[in-house]
Amino acid sequence: MSVEDSDLDYPWPPMPTATARHADLLRYRAEFPLLDASVYLNTCSLGARSERSRAHLDTFLAEWGALGARAWYRRWLGELDALREDFGAVIGVAGAEISLAANVSGALAVFASALDQLHRGDPHMLGRLRDAGIAAGDQPRTRVITTALDFPTLGHQWLARAPLGVEVVVVPSPDGVTVPTEAIAAEIDERTALVATGHVYFTTGAMADLEGLATECHERGALLLIDAYQATGIVPTDVVAAGIDAYVSGTLKWLFGGSGTAFAWVRPALHEALRPTTTGWFSSAHQFDFAVDELEFAGGGRRYELGTPSVPSAAIARGGMELVREIGVDRLGERTRDLGDVLIRLAEERGLRVATVRDGSRRGGIVPIQVGEPKPIVDALAADGIIVDYRPGIVRCSPAFYTSEDELNLLVERLDRLVPQGDRLS
Ligand SMILES: Cc1ncc(COP(=O)(O)O)c(C=O)c1O
Repeated sequence: MSVEDSDLDYPWPPMPTATARHADLLRYRAEFPLLDASVYLNTCSLGARSERSRAHLDTFLAEWGALGARAWYRRWLGELDALREDFGAVIGVAGAEISLAANVSGALAVFASALDQLHRGDPHMLGRLRDAGIAAGDQPRTRVITTALDFPTLGHQWLARAPLGVEVVVVPSPDGVTVPTEAIAAEIDERTALVATGHVYFTTGAMADLEGLATECHERGALLLIDAYQATGIVPTDVVAAGIDAYVSGTLKWLFGGSGTAFAWVRPALHEALRPTTTGWFSSAHQFDFAVDELEFAGGGRRYELGTPSVPSAAIARGGMELVREIGVDRLGERTRDLGDVLIRLAEERGLRVATVRDGSRRGGIVPIQVGEPKPIVDALAADGIIVDYRPGIVRCSPAFYTSEDELNLLVERLDRLVPQGDRLS
């Protein structure tokens, strides 16, 4: 059932006194057809598709149709470079330092392969890390630390390396919402190769302290990798200033760029130490020499790439990145957190349990509502044209810059009718 069919004339509660900051961004709604057809509050799963993405995809199809393989040299390699520039711009680095990937899991697999020699305690690798300023000592580093709130693909990369003697330590969350930096720091020891954790946790929306984690890691000779999928595009980030070693993200969510495109950044000073053993011809310095008997890694981010990228996905992603760069991550972030503040306040006024941090500066775009059985509630909302999703124990709501406060009112009004008494604040 679409929103038009549902009973939108239900008496709405009075508008909250939300800040109108950046409300001018609502003019972009016209670029997202989905917003006419539904109340879309699921950007943390998949950002809505803009008309710009469609236009970029149409251009790709036209170029393929008109040029065939000539489009590679005339257009597409340039478009891929432009996409690297787009990604670099949102994290404060040059496009040449970015590696393109098909998804975060693929980017992680390549990065993980570059640590295998560290797990074995290879003296050359340890020496190269020392050259790069990481006091990794001279013993094998077999431990990888992640947290109970992280996306599973992060832990899986190193669980799959158990045959290499890698041990994954999962730091619990004491409150189910955050993981204190000190709790992670307490697990980092001289056997620790890496802390791999999120910038914004995918179920709670809480934000990790990148600078604090980087300091703790480096004091003990460990590396820090950040999965920023739920942060990129709404949390202004300077990866160099934050002091992190590696960053992975993608376009599905807050970059409004659809599936099939992700990216990684590895601190350039570490490139010599971190040689991937999972690779492909796009990582070669002499890609178009087609030499099968030699491999010299390309300089810059390309050393962590694999094979032919999905150009249609990249085209779609460029549409999203055009919007992100036009509006700016600062404004997108402020607007997203303002809407989160409104939603939290409205939900708590109705006695709903909100399982995230109240301080907007420590939160991404996710507002989870705690319930015993989320699925029937999410299904009932969908039947009314309100799209959110669920994870165990929560209805996961994620307003984005294109969300109106009326839509938040409507969501909370419906939730108020659907969430059982036993799931509410007493
Ligand atoms: C924090 C986080 N990491 C990773 C992913 C997914 O990674 P991949 O691109 O491998 O599907 C998601 C969501 O899909 C996510 O929320």
